[in-house]
Amino acid sequence: MIVFALPGNEELTKKIAGHLKAEKGEATIRQFPDGESYVQIHSEVKDKCVVMVCTLHEPDAKLLPLYFLSKTAKELGAACTCLVAPYLAYMRQDKQFNPGEGITSTYFAELISGFAETLTTVDPHLHRRSSLSEIYTVPNKLIHAASHISKWVSDNIEKPVFIGPDGESEQWVSQVAEEAGAPFTVLEKVRHGDRDVEVSVPDVAKYKDHTPVLVDDIISTARTMIETVGHLKKAGMHPPVCVGVHAVFAGSAYADLKNAGVQQVVTCNTIPHESNQIDLSDILAKEINQLMKHHA
Ligand code: R5P
Repeated sequence: MIVFALPGNEELTKKIAGHLKAEKGEATIRQFPDGESYVQIHSEVKDKCVVMVCTLHEPDAKLLPLYFLSKTAKELGAACTCLVAPYLAYMRQDKQFNPGEGITSTYFAELISGFAETLTTVDPHLHRRSSLSEIYTVPNKLIHAASHISKWVSDNIEKPVFIGPDGESEQWVSQVAEEAGAPFTVLEKVRHGDRDVEVSVPDVAKYKDHTPVLVDDIISTARTMIETVGHLKKAGMHPPVCVGVHAVFAGSAYADLKNAGVQQVVTCNTIPHESNQIDLSDILAKEINQLMKHHA
C-alpha cells in the first residue's frame, strides 16, 4: 500500500500512513500557468495499492487532479487506486428540488466510480438515500464519527445535553448522546433558502443547568447552527458548544458562528480547519485497511 496526499490533505495523510505503517507517496501536483493541472508521480507504484487521500470540500477544482493521479498511477502499473474522501461532496443534491435541476449527487458518484476502485468516507449526508451503494458502484466504507465525538465531549464538557438542529441530525445526535450517556433533544428545521433557516425549539427548560452541545454533520453557511443558538439563548440556556463533523464553513460562516454567542466551535479533521479538534485518522486507517483486504 502507498498513500498519496492530494494538495491540502498532507497532515491527515501523514497520520493515516503512520497508523497503517504504510509508505507515503511522492508526487508533484500543481497547476500550469494557464490553470490546467499537472501531475507527476515520483514513487514506485507498480503492483501497489495506491491510496489517494482527497477530501472533497470545494470539489470542482479537486476532481481533475484526483482523476489524473488515479489514471497516472494505473498507467504506471498500480494494482488499484482507492479513494479516501473524508468529506464527500454533492451528497445534499439528491433530488430534483425545482424543475430543470440535475440530481448531481448521482452524476458525481458516476464520475468517482469511474476511476476509483474503492471509496472510504466519513458520515456522508445520506438523507433520502439509505446507502452509498445506491449511487456509488464501487466497494465503499462509510465511517461514523459518533464515537470520537462522544469521547471528545465526555472528556471536555461537563453535564452536556446534546441538541440536533433538525430531524435528519437525529441519527448522529442520538448515537453520540447514547455513547456519552447524556440526554438529547432534536429540533425542527425549515429551510426557506440557502441562507434562510427557521428552527423550532421544544421544551428545553429542564436542561437549564446543562451545557448544550449542538451536533450536526455539516456546518456550511452555519445558518442552521446560528438559528438554533439564538433560540437556546432566548430559552435561557448556557452558551452552547457547536460540534460539526465536516467544517465546510462557506464564506464568513465560521466568524459568524463564533460571534453568535457560542462557547466554542469544534469539528472533526475531515476538512482541514482551525476548529479541528477531533482526530479521525485512527478509524480511517483501520477501515482503509479492512476495505483493502476485502478488495484484494
Ligand atoms: C442538512 O440537512 C445538514 O444536515 C446540515 O444541517 C446543513 O447542511 C447545514 O447547513 P448550513 O450550515 O448551511 O445551515
